[in-house]
Amino acid sequence: MQLSVVILAAGQGKRMHSDLPKVLQPLAGQPLLQHVVRTARALEPAHIYVVYGHGGAQVQAALSHEPVEWILQADQLGTGHAVMQAMCVIPDDHTVLVLYGDVPLIRTPSLTKLVSLADEGALAVLSVDLEDAAGYGRIIRNAEGRIRAIVEHKDASPEELQIRELNTGLMAAPARHLREWLLGLGNNNSSREYYLTDVVAGAVQAGHRVEPVRCTFTSEVMGVNDKIQLSKVEALYRRERAEELMLAGATLADPERIDIRGEIKVGRDVFIDINAVLIGQVELAAGVKVGPNCVISDSQIGAGTEIYANSIIDHAIVAENCRIGPFARVRPGSTLHHDVHIGNFVEIKSSDIGAGSKANHLSYVGDSHVGGGVNVGAGSITCNYDGQNKWPTVIGDGAFIGSGSMLVAPVRVGVGATIGAGSTITENAPDGELTLTRAKQTTVTGWKRPRKLDEEEKAAVIDAALKQPKS
Ligand code: UD1
Ligand code: CA
Repeated sequence: MQLSVVILAAGQGKRMHSDLPKVLQPLAGQPLLQHVVRTARALEPAHIYVVYGHGGAQVQAALSHEPVEWILQADQLGTGHAVMQAMCVIPDDHTVLVLYGDVPLIRTPSLTKLVSLADEGALAVLSVDLEDAAGYGRIIRNAEGRIRAIVEHKDASPEELQIRELNTGLMAAPARHLREWLLGLGNNNSSREYYLTDVVAGAVQAGHRVEPVRCTFTSEVMGVNDKIQLSKVEALYRRERAEELMLAGATLADPERIDIRGEIKVGRDVFIDINAVLIGQVELAAGVKVGPNCVISDSQIGAGTEIYANSIIDHAIVAENCRIGPFARVRPGSTLHHDVHIGNFVEIKSSDIGAGSKANHLSYVGDSHVGGGVNVGAGSITCNYDGQNKWPTVIGDGAFIGSGSMLVAPVRVGVGATIGAGSTITENAPDGELTLTRAKQTTVTGWKRPRKLDEEEKAAVIDAALKQPKS
């Protein structure tokens, strides 16, 4: 059976008190709706329809990279009305799965159950047992325990309000039947809305099979209506991701103190210390150690590499057994080959650093191609920017750059070349030779240190020193 997913996202989200439409509120740095779309995609449906209304252009722009089709619900007349808008484009022989843009933690196993029951012709509704039932629709069963209807909180009788089996809002059904039941909806209720939930009573009346599926992880059906619920969902999300990493073999110094804002892959025996922030697509191969307060985005880190405290790695590829930090910054477009050491206060940008090379202290290496076994001495810098253009530096295998050297790009330092400390290199340095630019050292014998001047003497000195030359 072909699957069409309908995601309801037209509501305004008044209780957010925000200019941002509710479904664009961020969870782990991505819009709520993005999370729902990602889960929907995992089901490999034929179509994903997003029913939008409030903040339409903004919502579409935020999700423009997603393969979704947009259905406008100009007036928000209820969840049933919202699904109805999408039914115009869904063929009869599809199975329809309804998701909510504000229920972001939903997982695929629950959805797969709903879809397979709907594939067999049933109306499958996801229910949950919760003590805190405020605002939820109640699942009403008959004497034999068969589901009979869903009654909204606002419309429920005092007895019905006691029920703790609740409607999550998510459901699946054959398109042909869903369309019939939706056509039968009225808005004769306290909100004057067309409730999607009323399709249950319609299906029962028409003699169709209705199957409630109880969801076991209550967290996955948590709805987000205000900022408190948003923060709860964020904490749950963080915890879930942390648990995934631990199940995959990572040791976390404290699962409450890690922020995961993306899809992270870890190998065996990875260790992650506190306050790590992992963003986007990050791969940490076996045995990688991440020190406290590191931020790693969209990067691959090779096996056995250690990243020490307070380091930042962004869009970089780091091979095996490297040592990075503490306080290092590896910027986009950088590749570190195996056994590279990038030490404290070293910045690497758009550079390829060959195997076994080291820049251990206070350096800047930008737009450079550095060979293997190179030593970049403390405080050495590639001067890659002339104020208008960026220029490359090439450093050959085995070169030794003495401390405090300025390599004025574009420039090449040869294979096995040595640059004397404190040099400013503007011409290519040949292979295997010592190149240096250095004023000759002199000693001034008998020189005296300055004595402390009084204010008057000082003023005279300043006056003389700063006087404009006579023209
Ligand atoms: C809904 C269910 C309720 C369930 C609860 C679970 C109905 C009538 N009620 O109530 O049984 O327990 O979810 O969270 O379905 N939306 C539209 N267009 C509309 C109205 C809503 O797109 O005209 C969207 C909203 O943006 C939201 C979702 O549908 O993403 C749910 O709407 P909301 O108003 O939050 O429904 P609840 O009152 O929470
Ligand atoms: Ca809601």
